[in-house]
Amino acid sequence: MITIMKKPIFTLLLCASGMMGLQAQTLTFKTAKFKVGDEVGYKSPDFNATGWRDIRVTDNWDNQGVPADTRFAWYRIEMRLDKKMLEQSDLKEYLEFDLGPIDDADEAYLNGERIGKTGGMPGDKGGYASAWSQPRRYLVKADSKCIRWDATNVLTVRCYSGNHPGGMFGREGVRVRVPSRVDGTSFAISPQKHADKHSIAVELKSRYASSVSGTMKVELVDPETEEVVNTLNQKVSSLREGKPVKVNVEYDPSRMFLAKATFTEKKSGLSITSSYQPPYILTPPAPATPRFNTTDIYGVRPGSPIHFRFGVSGERPMKITSPDLPSGLSINPDNGALSGSLAKAGGYTFTVVAENAKGKAEQKFTIRVGSKIALTPPMGWNSWNCWGLSVTQDKVISSAKALIEKGLADYGYAYMNIDDGWEAPQRNADGTIAVNEKFPSMKELGDWLHSEGLKFGIYSSPGDLTCGGYLGSIDHELQDAESYNSWGVDYLKYDWCGYGRKHATEPDNQTVASFVRPYLLMERCLRQQPRDIFYSLCQYGMADVWKWGEAVDANSWRTTGDITDTWASMYDIGFVRQAALQPYAKPGHWNDPDMLIVGKVGWSANLRDSRLTPDEQYTHISLWTLLASNMLIGCDLAQLDDFTISLLCNNEVNAVNQDILGIQAKRDIVDGDIQIWTRPLSDGSRAVGIFNVGTEPQKVDFGKYLKELELEGISSVRDLWRQKNLSTSDLRYYIPTHGVRYLKVK
Ligand code: GLA
Repeated sequence: MITIMKKPIFTLLLCASGMMGLQAQTLTFKTAKFKVGDEVGYKSPDFNATGWRDIRVTDNWDNQGVPADTRFAWYRIEMRLDKKMLEQSDLKEYLEFDLGPIDDADEAYLNGERIGKTGGMPGDKGGYASAWSQPRRYLVKADSKCIRWDATNVLTVRCYSGNHPGGMFGREGVRVRVPSRVDGTSFAISPQKHADKHSIAVELKSRYASSVSGTMKVELVDPETEEVVNTLNQKVSSLREGKPVKVNVEYDPSRMFLAKATFTEKKSGLSITSSYQPPYILTPPAPATPRFNTTDIYGVRPGSPIHFRFGVSGERPMKITSPDLPSGLSINPDNGALSGSLAKAGGYTFTVVAENAKGKAEQKFTIRVGSKIALTPPMGWNSWNCWGLSVTQDKVISSAKALIEKGLADYGYAYMNIDDGWEAPQRNADGTIAVNEKFPSMKELGDWLHSEGLKFGIYSSPGDLTCGGYLGSIDHELQDAESYNSWGVDYLKYDWCGYGRKHATEPDNQTVASFVRPYLLMERCLRQQPRDIFYSLCQYGMADVWKWGEAVDANSWRTTGDITDTWASMYDIGFVRQAALQPYAKPGHWNDPDMLIVGKVGWSANLRDSRLTPDEQYTHISLWTLLASNMLIGCDLAQLDDFTISLLCNNEVNAVNQDILGIQAKRDIVDGDIQIWTRPLSDGSRAVGIFNVGTEPQKVDFGKYLKELELEGISSVRDLWRQKNLSTSDLRYYIPTHGVRYLKVK
């Protein structure tokens, strides 16, 4: 399923009834008749559809017993359209069919006449184009001949699914109405920054050609005190399709606000409202003086090449040196890249000095040469959540440059991982893996990343094909491991996908051993290479991978299916599915709840802002750091905004993720919508995430949980996002909807 979302980020649009206006009657259908296949006659109202099965239009057909490989299918709904519906509208111009989103492309007909089409189907001029997430709203002129007023009408929808899931799945069902003027209007609200001023741009639009007038009001509200801090009233006249009305409202980005926009239509008194949370930045700016932000311990196997970059924030230029560097190692003073190797097992501690025009900082640093790598969870970037299969070498390079330029490398983000989409359709004659035209030279890419102290990651599958249909490693595991070594690869994500077909034919496929087998095979091949390759299992948690991941020497294992940028997905993966996995994470071996969904994502060449609200993003990063998760950024780094940087570059928050005890947080308290997750830290303190997973803000008295958390008599409370000490006596916190208060408590 390829995501194409053009919607700006804003919360749901509410259609509220006006005080004195008419509210248009809406016909709602949750079921339809359904037929797999594709015949042109199906669109005709007179087609004999007896024998068609019933189906819900509120859920994909795959979830209703229709084979997942179904490509074409038709839906059919009969309805009586009462002419009275016209009287209830102040506009009386259109009949509107709201079909919700459809996986992936559709064509809709009313009594055999085409009324709308979204996406592309095979056979169309542009071929197949998925538009799975786009809501379908088709308008038919109220005087159109295809409408049979006061009689039975037939709506038919032809659907094409390029990939499962398929079909209609709008939770509200199919809705038919004669809309009023106000129903065509909607708000699009987005954050803006000009010079150093932050504002929200509120755009009021209409989908209809006839003009609408009324008043628009935008209020900025402090959600905690409900104080209205700014109000803007604007008269609206002649609003119509293609002629939006725009206003800008300034706000202070260091404070939490809710923006409420209302438009009231003049004649009917009907109104719409929309609320939106502008991003707000809690992380204080880093000082200009040097500050070390990376963990002070690093694991490597004897003799393996070391690639590490000391993460130091502060004004540039800066020199990074060491007076007592163990022999065999060197530091590039200009970028802090450490390289070399250490042949003998043991602990090597030395001092690192960072100096710029504003000052100097020092840190003791230890390299532990032994059998363990990944002593703390990996931090870096992966191409999948942004570029999907459209990743190229140039995009990886521009992302790595942005990682450095925007300062993320100063906070320990180091892995630059290419996900699916780099392999050529055929192997070389000698059986080695070949790259496609998007990747001119893996070796050069690896060398360049290493010269910057960054690390190089790659992706493959134990099967014949990857999830994206590219070549996997089956029967070529050792050859592939050797190629990775020759390119300087430091990380392999090994994704089950195509292996499923082989697995299905194996006589012992009910056993755990059958799930372990392909991963053990690659592990043996990787370990024959003279370099450390972080081994990342990706098989979505099958056969309780967390119970045997360590036994195949995996450094991390995905615990669930793929994440996407919605609260439902993040909540399910983060809160529901990690709760029982706490015992399995430890230094060298981590649970992986999938990559981060902040910033501009899109899984394709089309990127959009993450659909998580700012509070949901605070929750996401807080929970992932508590969970000792892989911290792999999944957005386009070249387009990072200030808010996303502030989320990813809070040294105190990241320090929880990188804490060397490596103990994952436990969910200690569930009290209605409040969940408290805590993890012990190496300095004797405890990281505490107080989450509100409900849909209403809450005032939480943390004090009442202290006994149960064995935290009585606390001597200090630090707010990690704000980097401020808080009172130890007043422990009541306002926690917004889907938000968090993230503390370190002693
Ligand atoms: C699977 C994985 C994703 C990504 C894609 C690539 O869906 O879970 O993380 O690697 O494959 O095709």
